[in-house]
Amino acid sequence: MNRRVFIAAAAAGTLALTVRRSHPAGDLGPVMYAWCGAMTPVSCRVVVRTKFPSPTVRLIISQEEDFKDSTKSIAQASAEPTGCHLTFEVTKLSPKTVYFYGFEVTADGKTEWANVGRFQTFPEGAADFQVAFASCARTGSTSPVFDTIARNNPDLFIHMGDFHYENIALEAPALRRDAYALVHASETQSYLYRHFPIGYIWDDHDYLGNNTDGVAVTPAQKRAKTDARLTYQQCVPHYPLAFGDGDFPIGQAFTLGRARFILTDNRSEKIPGDTMLGVAQKKWFKDEIRAAKTKHPLIVWVNTVPWIGVPNSLVDFWAGYDAERRELADFFKAEGLAGRLCILSGDSHMLAIDDGSHSDYATGGGMPIPVFQAASLDQRPSAKGGPYSHPQIPGAGQFGLMQVRDNGKEIRVQWKGMTLDDKMAKGMGHEFIVKG
Ligand SMILES: [Fe+2]
Repeated sequence: MNRRVFIAAAAAGTLALTVRRSHPAGDLGPVMYAWCGAMTPVSCRVVVRTKFPSPTVRLIISQEEDFKDSTKSIAQASAEPTGCHLTFEVTKLSPKTVYFYGFEVTADGKTEWANVGRFQTFPEGAADFQVAFASCARTGSTSPVFDTIARNNPDLFIHMGDFHYENIALEAPALRRDAYALVHASETQSYLYRHFPIGYIWDDHDYLGNNTDGVAVTPAQKRAKTDARLTYQQCVPHYPLAFGDGDFPIGQAFTLGRARFILTDNRSEKIPGDTMLGVAQKKWFKDEIRAAKTKHPLIVWVNTVPWIGVPNSLVDFWAGYDAERRELADFFKAEGLAGRLCILSGDSHMLAIDDGSHSDYATGGGMPIPVFQAASLDQRPSAKGGPYSHPQIPGAGQFGLMQVRDNGKEIRVQWKGMTLDDKMAKGMGHEFIVKG
């Protein structure tokens, strides 16, 4: 069984002497899964699902891997009546610091310890960092690509949708919660999510199904939408949502270094042939950009579906929303974002990069945007849109890396399209510099 037993030192007023048994690798004892997100330099959010309902759970974090010193107990949260999901808001952390975390789970008078993993807080201000991102993995994929991503030690992993392919079109909260659990049951995915903070926005298959949108006419359709959002809120450690908990869409934004990341929900507000973002979210998106541009030299739009493509009203990505695409490009141009905005996308199961030479949809030009398509983690190859200045490589076991070097005067951004064996795919590198 290889179980190690150790005694945690009594930490100042927080923990009594506790016997901690670690479980075999991959087995978290009373915990089904746990992950952390909403990372900032000083706080994060941890979500845990326990294997049985209504336990008392204490989150323990420490800067020591063996939890010997400076062990800290966070106020316990209580499980909501139906389930096993608890969310912890962790505050008063230090920037760019590694913390180890685990849980003490008590039920029926018995306390068990689950050693979960680690996370590192974001750096503050002008700083170097690295983000990994991708989309699309078959449900519960055990692909080694997740280990490859972890090996790169990213400050953040952005999952751009199709976290699973359960295509749940109805109100089915138990099924939806179990879909998240199925993903975490994969050892390779669980390892990544237990050790690196996540930023996750859904696409279609993990929302209501293939090519789904925001149109809900019948009460059953409306309930399905609400169910998707509520389950997301319950199971995913997300940044504060644009419209708060309890309403659509699930767009969200955060700061890493001097970059502002804006994640739009391109599904739940979509009206086919009319709008991808919806009126309210588009206003929020523009407001976010106006606010960001005064403080952040670099703006990263996590835009789940492809931006580039010849107008075609029949397609499900931006090529099918040409008028709105032009409206946004004109807006970016008017706000002076040329050279400061880039796009990360998934959905299409390929790697592709455009340096800006095919992505300019502003009236009269003047708004080229570097675009990085990074997929698929583990899905059938496919290709959408284009043309791209760099190769288009359909396939699986692929992801994107964004390395940022910031000396306070200029931000050097390096993009690499990566393969399963942790190599840059042929020709899949691009670099640009943002002044400011
Ligand atoms: Fe996909």
